[in-house]
Amino acid sequence: MNATSSHQDESAWSLPVYGQLPFEPVGGEGAYLETRDGRRLLDLYGGHAVACLGYGHPGLSRAIREQTDQLIFQSNIVPMAVRAEACRMLADFAPAKLDRVFLVNSGAEANENALRLAFRSTGRSRVVAVEGAFHGRTGAAAAVTWGASGSWYGYPRLPFDVSFVPRDDVPALEAAMSDDVAAMIVEPVQGVAGAIDLSSEFLRAARSACDRTGTLLIFDEVQCGMGRSGHPFVAQAVKVSPDILTTAKGLAGGFPAGAVITGSTIADGLQVGDLGTTFGGGPVACAAILAVIRAIRSEGLLENVQTISKLIRATCVQGPVTGVRGRGLLLGLSTRPPAKTVRDALLEHGILSGTSGDPHVLRLLPPLTLKSIHVESLASALGDIGE
Ligand SMILES: Cc1ncc(COP(=O)(O)O)c(C=O)c1O
Repeated sequence: MNATSSHQDESAWSLPVYGQLPFEPVGGEGAYLETRDGRRLLDLYGGHAVACLGYGHPGLSRAIREQTDQLIFQSNIVPMAVRAEACRMLADFAPAKLDRVFLVNSGAEANENALRLAFRSTGRSRVVAVEGAFHGRTGAAAAVTWGASGSWYGYPRLPFDVSFVPRDDVPALEAAMSDDVAAMIVEPVQGVAGAIDLSSEFLRAARSACDRTGTLLIFDEVQCGMGRSGHPFVAQAVKVSPDILTTAKGLAGGFPAGAVITGSTIADGLQVGDLGTTFGGGPVACAAILAVIRAIRSEGLLENVQTISKLIRATCVQGPVTGVRGRGLLLGLSTRPPAKTVRDALLEHGILSGTSGDPHVLRLLPPLTLKSIHVESLASALGDIGE
């Protein structure tokens, strides 16, 4: 079977909701994917920021294999040492005082539960969100996603009131906040929008406005968290601590997992039955989370992200690229031609990249293990493509 025929097979049996790329990955090693038709692609997109350790990482593969052999699943109805250790290590990785973890399966589910916690613990009914943000496709997460209600929201009405403020507009943020606001939800680096990092000033103003109005500050670090910014979370980089932090994507390196991380004030107000999930916190996901955090720490990946990010900024503004934005290894390359054209041209050169909500921004979400040799390949391909 070649890539085209497997693509046809899949589209015959699945819902036609994805625009798929014209190759089938069948294996991978490090930053490279192997395709069914025998090509090797440098993957700078990581399945939407998920493959944070690349492919075939020995520690991650071993952890998943060993846990699968030992016990593939039990739910939260029983305590498990591997879950306790994953929660402890994640709390240790997160900003100080965010030391209580609720494990789920995806980014949208994490945001859904973060918002629920905010409504429950404040007794309020309104949310402030930021223009351009993407928070997921489930009811509450999509309600705080910019533009969803006008296009793909798909539910008959919004579940609660939402006010959007323009990015980095501190006066608008202050005007939108009042004591009926349960939560302000912020994506500190807006990934889907095209790697737009919100200013530290805006994030600090969000913290102060929340303190003034008794509102809970939620950082959605589903895409920008887990080391991708060159810090464990952007919260630590900008020294602004949210009340609730959500993460997913790279959390378990490719195994589905998400997390809501908060502190004792919110945790102590909860009772049995307030939140729940069947699969969240399953032992294989927990073993994978542990392997990811151990690799980030033991392989110096935060430092590597910072070094490689600087190298991309210094060497890849050439050919069709006019500038670089974002943080760490969540980068947006501004392109003179449409980003889609540049993505297709890079694919011809054996490099996989991604598009974004901005038609002139190409998104890079490579593994945190990326090396300078990979950046050289990207810079040289961009040079070959030309303006
Ligand atoms: C910032 C952010 N939040 C939430 C989500 C939703 O995550 P998931 O697709 O795992 O539900 C995404 C997905 O792209 C995201 O980028």
